[in-house]
Amino acid sequence: MARIFFLCVSLFVCVYGHKQDDIITESASGRFVGSLMTSRRGRPIHAYRGIRYAQPPVGALRFQPPVPITFYPHEVNATLDGPACPQPADPGYFVDEDCLRLNVYTPGVLGKWSLPVLVYIHAGGFYSVSGRSDVAGPQHLLDKDLVLVTINYRLGSLGFLSTGDEHAPGNNGFKDQVVALQWVRANIASFGGDAGRVTLAGYSAGAISVALHTVSPMSRGLFHRAISMSGSPFSQIPFRCNLLHLAVQQARLVDCPVTSTAELVDCLRAVPWRVLGDSLKGFQEFSIDPILIWTPVIEGDFGQERFLPEDPLRAIRAGKLRSVPYIVSQTRDEFFWESFLVLNNSIYRTQINEDWYKVGPEAFLLPAPSDRSARALRAQYLPARRLENTAADNAALGRLYGDAVIGFGAHRLANLMAYNNKEPTYYYEFNYIGNQSHYVDPASGKPVGVAHHDELIYLFSLPAGFQEIPVSDSRDSLMVDKLTTMFYNFALTGNPNPLLDDCASPVWPPMRPDERQYLQIGDHFSVHRNLFENRFRVWEYLYPIEYNLTKS
Ligand SMILES: *[C@@H]1O[C@H](CO)[C@@H](O)[C@H](O)[C@H]1NC(C)=O
Ligand SMILES: *[C@@H]1O[C@H](CO)[C@@H](O)[C@H](O)[C@H]1NC(C)=O
Ligand SMILES: *[C@@H]1O[C@H](CO)[C@@H](O)[C@H](O)[C@H]1NC(C)=O
Repeated sequence: MARIFFLCVSLFVCVYGHKQDDIITESASGRFVGSLMTSRRGRPIHAYRGIRYAQPPVGALRFQPPVPITFYPHEVNATLDGPACPQPADPGYFVDEDCLRLNVYTPGVLGKWSLPVLVYIHAGGFYSVSGRSDVAGPQHLLDKDLVLVTINYRLGSLGFLSTGDEHAPGNNGFKDQVVALQWVRANIASFGGDAGRVTLAGYSAGAISVALHTVSPMSRGLFHRAISMSGSPFSQIPFRCNLLHLAVQQARLVDCPVTSTAELVDCLRAVPWRVLGDSLKGFQEFSIDPILIWTPVIEGDFGQERFLPEDPLRAIRAGKLRSVPYIVSQTRDEFFWESFLVLNNSIYRTQINEDWYKVGPEAFLLPAPSDRSARALRAQYLPARRLENTAADNAALGRLYGDAVIGFGAHRLANLMAYNNKEPTYYYEFNYIGNQSHYVDPASGKPVGVAHHDELIYLFSLPAGFQEIPVSDSRDSLMVDKLTTMFYNFALTGNPNPLLDDCASPVWPPMRPDERQYLQIGDHFSVHRNLFENRFRVWEYLYPIEYNLTKS
């Protein structure tokens, strides 16, 4: 029970004292001192930030599975954000290997206990970003009566090194997420959350993670609804049993021996974390591609607890998908802006024109052997001539980038779930351009598409890169209300409807295999069918899978 002073103004509404020293929660595992923040509409938020959920993964614990913290002998100072996990960052930005932290945000004015819990797994390609409040702030969602938890997990080689043997079986970053979810189950009731009503939401790399948690034996019982925004593990990229090629590349980048995996891992264990975090650029082959480098691995049995003991498609076929209400999505344009980096640069433009069969597969994440796919995709998406830096060529190449990096995988995830998930699967397209975006035209400073990550501007406050959206009747402010309402409804009941307290809004139906409905989120909500399926036909042809895996 929380040992805090509170004033009960009625039987059910208790208002906490707002002095910083009053923001204290005690759970069975420890005592946490938090701080006061304020929501977009001015409600108090009790923020408990930077809580370690696992032992610092440093020294001998580097490259080891996370060691959970289940008891805190001393009061935990949770008044400030912890560090981001090692990654390239501006000088002075708080980055550290001791990064296995989570943040808990709870309404400072509680009308009822046992609120739905939303756990957010951040984006960033498994090598960047964090759950810190400057990139995943609670100010929007905490206008709703829910408890928000944002988590860090290890990134890059520190999180996903996999030699495919006992020296580094892999998937540690996912195991970090599991331990964070275990922490939530054990502690969240003391923060006003309902451990039996946990929604696991993720964007991009976080969305890939969420989908894997629905089949991992380690994640069983830890969450009850799922949201995968703009990311899927079921893309054209096949599951591997190791990432040995990346381990070797990492070793070469920091002058470690590659003579044996034992020596390689031992040497990497002694490299300063900042050197490993900063070596990201060494993995890029063409422009900023491949934009996805580290991926989940199917783990062999070396005595360790395994996050993914088998191919997830096989697990689904064997009936191991844990059915939960699921929201799957993609944005209209995703990574369309990568075309500008390529066609607006004479070196890359020459490369893509003259070396398509080498750089195409790097850019579009095509598994080897890739010539056939590279040829078919070029024919399908691009004009049969040299690509120039024109609006039309940028649009065509941008479309291919969007579909290759995100769209096709999201399409497959939605279909797999529509067929095999016994709970409803809801599919949406984010199709809204507001004042801000993750890509703005350098000349006008204005958004020109619906970029990857753009919903996050409305779901979270992102003071590190975006202006706060004041409460008003602006379109952007309304979008904050729409998305937070949808997420709150879903976290509360497993159904995102009703979309607005507005009889004009449609009902968002679950996607059915034979009807394939989705919600388009623009200035208005509208229900349509067959999202971008014409474009995905060539992908389905090149990379066919059976969707109906659990037919009886
Ligand atoms: C928590 O740590 C911060 C930074 O070191 C410090 O300023 C603050 O006084 C500490 N708060 C408590 C309650 O110990
Ligand atoms: C193209 O490159 C030029 C020169 O570097 C730059 O000024 C311009 O903003 C770039 N345009 C786009 C769309 O990236
Ligand atoms: C964009 O910002 C301006 C100035 O703050 C505001 O007047 C306008 O309504 C905003 N537009 C949207 C789409 O929210």
